[in-house]
Amino acid sequence: MLGKSIDGKILSGIVMFVAIMILIGWVAINEEARMQSFVVQHTGRSIERGAELFASLCAECHGEEGFGQGDRAPGLNNPHLFGYDPVGEFTAAITNASRALVRFNDEMEALLSELTDSENPPSEERQSEIFARIDELEVMIEEQDAIVAESVAARAETLNQLSAAVENGLFPQWENVTDIEATTAINEVEVFFNTNGTRLAQVGWAGDLHGYIVTTLIHGRPGSDNVWLNSEGMIAWSQTAGGPLRHDQIEDLAAYILNWDKGSAWTSEDFMAVQQYGKPWSDGSLPSEPPPPPVGDNPLRILETLQAEAIEGSAVSGESLYDAKFGCTDCHRNGASAPDTVGTWTRVLTERLSEPQFAGYSAEQYVVESIVNPGAYVVDGYNSGLMPADFGTRMTSQQLADIIAFLKTQE
Ligand code: HEC
Ligand code: HEC
Repeated sequence: MLGKSIDGKILSGIVMFVAIMILIGWVAINEEARMQSFVVQHTGRSIERGAELFASLCAECHGEEGFGQGDRAPGLNNPHLFGYDPVGEFTAAITNASRALVRFNDEMEALLSELTDSENPPSEERQSEIFARIDELEVMIEEQDAIVAESVAARAETLNQLSAAVENGLFPQWENVTDIEATTAINEVEVFFNTNGTRLAQVGWAGDLHGYIVTTLIHGRPGSDNVWLNSEGMIAWSQTAGGPLRHDQIEDLAAYILNWDKGSAWTSEDFMAVQQYGKPWSDGSLPSEPPPPPVGDNPLRILETLQAEAIEGSAVSGESLYDAKFGCTDCHRNGASAPDTVGTWTRVLTERLSEPQFAGYSAEQYVVESIVNPGAYVVDGYNSGLMPADFGTRMTSQQLADIIAFLKTQE
């Protein structure tokens, strides 16, 4: 009786266990699908918002469908910008074959000089070895020469097909290339295509296209109005650089532009559709990495990010940001026109957090909110609207963490 009931319990335990595992597995499988569909929806919405911004702010110069306009702005819906090199396959074949030719010709030369060395003539056995190898090399050289000739012809044919695109600025400076006839070593032509085949290679951008677009939008292209005769040039769009757009709007625009990518399915029609290609910059003065995004103005999300990315603040750097870069001290020193810097942290812990509206707040949350959203609560006896409300668009997570670390030292 007893034994049976223990068996029964074990059995039902196993059944329960299996059932739970199946349930967990089922949830896990569906969670994945749910997350994916969430990501797709999220990206979809970002692209939609980007499309609206593009139509209202960018289309007048870059064209409604992003094909660019003559000497006004470059095409963005553009295979060259997306890294699709129309002659890349041929250029790579020529470069490889030319390298092989250099190796084979060097070996041939060494064998010939060994053969004709009168001081150290090779033995008969060695001589026949050398002749055999020379025969092999001749065949290999012929093969590589044929590859070069075919690829040069195929590339010329492609360029010919794309001549309308070349006229619209694809491969600018192509006409300056002089060494077109040379086919043996890796010559000027190969160097030209290897450094101009894609837009990012042309401008020498080491990062990815997303970073390139975001950075271009943030900083604009000062002075581009001098180069683009039908254009006022590209302004800086980010609020951090004095422009009209928030960082999330810049990301939406980047998502919209990136959504034009066709990967390896771009065609010569796509090249023809582009009305204007980008120009090389004379000075190449682009920052090499996009700056980190600003913190934004949602205190809880900011604290989550600081934790998730394990960002540690430095009080030393915080003090210099507080004094110099952001000028906090101008108002907060000695409590002149704002609560005194000295004692901030103690005051937050003992006075602010005991007020009913801050029930459940941590000191960090209160301070972050005071910085990125100063209008949320105005300290008694001070004017609302005095503290600038845009620090959230001007500082990075790291800078905010540094300032918090500094304020923690103000006991
Ligand atoms: C007044 C005309 C004008 C407007 C409006 C404009 N741009 Fe531009 N944009 C340009 C010009 C001109 C360039 C090329 C600058 C250069 O060659 O340095 C450019 C360059 C770019 C580039 C870099 C392309 C490349 O191949 O290097 C991107 C990306 C871009 N713009 C996106 C946008 C977006 C997104 C908007 C809307 C928020 C926008 N632009 C609005 C004129 C404009
Ligand atoms: C133009 C003047 C001004 C500048 C610049 C300024 N603040 Fe303030 N700040 C104020 C005023 C006024 C208050 C009190 C009114 C309020 O709560 O908005 C305040 C309140 C605060 C509080 C809440 C203090 C408390 O005792 O509750 C913090 C924290 C703070 N500021 C941090 C900063 C930091 C950090 C910077 C720089 C990134 C800065 N402030 C720049 C004027 C300024």
